[in-house]
Amino acid sequence: MPLINENNTAVIGHPISQSLSPLIHNYWFETSDIFGHYNSVDVHSSELAGFVEIAKNSGLKGFNITIPHKTNIIPFLDRLAPIARQMGAVNTVKIMDDGSCVGFNTDGIGLVTHLKKSVPDWPKDKPAFILGAGGAARASALGLLNEKIPMVMIANRTRKKAEIIADEIGRGRITVVDWDDRSTAVAAAGLVVNTTSLGMVGQPTLDISLDQAASDTVIYDIVFKPLETALLKAAKERGLRTVDGLGMLVYQAVASFKIWFDRDVEYDDELVSKLLEKLT
Ligand code: ATR
Repeated sequence: MPLINENNTAVIGHPISQSLSPLIHNYWFETSDIFGHYNSVDVHSSELAGFVEIAKNSGLKGFNITIPHKTNIIPFLDRLAPIARQMGAVNTVKIMDDGSCVGFNTDGIGLVTHLKKSVPDWPKDKPAFILGAGGAARASALGLLNEKIPMVMIANRTRKKAEIIADEIGRGRITVVDWDDRSTAVAAAGLVVNTTSLGMVGQPTLDISLDQAASDTVIYDIVFKPLETALLKAAKERGLRTVDGLGMLVYQAVASFKIWFDRDVEYDDELVSKLLEKLT
């Protein structure tokens, strides 16, 4: 791994070859005044501690963490930002000048930024309804609650996992809906977010009826392969506003870049077309 430039960054995970993060960050290195390179590094769980030590001593500015290490990385870090502690997961590490590693989580801000940019007048006065209870659901719930929406409803096939998220975030702000009641719960929601893997290439589609959705309800699918999932297609056919999953990926990267370099970068048309090219 070439770690010769002091602005170099990376993403670690296992597997890692599918990651779009190198394309995104290297685009910003090419188009901004920050000179550097972003690598992808396949790191097994057993190699995490070793990677952090090498990273600290190699001049790396920081790194992203993806599946399956977002939680496992925590014991190897020196400090956690409050949002990462709340999420119990880290997707961005900044290596400070003294070599200490600070963990952040930009997934929630990524989801919310893309929502605000895509549908600025999304109905914030109604509850949001999140499907799924993995790391993305937790990030979505915390990100949305920071926007001061009245409540988050959450439904998951394995109800227990949704209960754990609700207990941790606080029952006054989040309520669990039975998976079997998901189509009915849509009626109360201003925003419906699919954070399950359903709808992804090779997975079954998310079976949910949008019949009861209000006309101003926004449907957000964090799946980006395909970019237009069956859920988003069904929502569009009903005239509902939709948000796709690619922007969440890009805006969490925007936030990482800001943490590392204190620079605001953008999701411009050229980056969109580079990503779409890679996805098709
Ligand atoms: P991430 O951390 O990226 O959010 P994850 O932890 O693997 O991913 O979570 C995947 C989500 O998709 C879970 O909510 C999972 O439900 P379970 O907790 O019951 O496993 C959901 N999911 C995956 N396949 C599903 C299916 N066939 N039907 C319903 N939900 C499914």
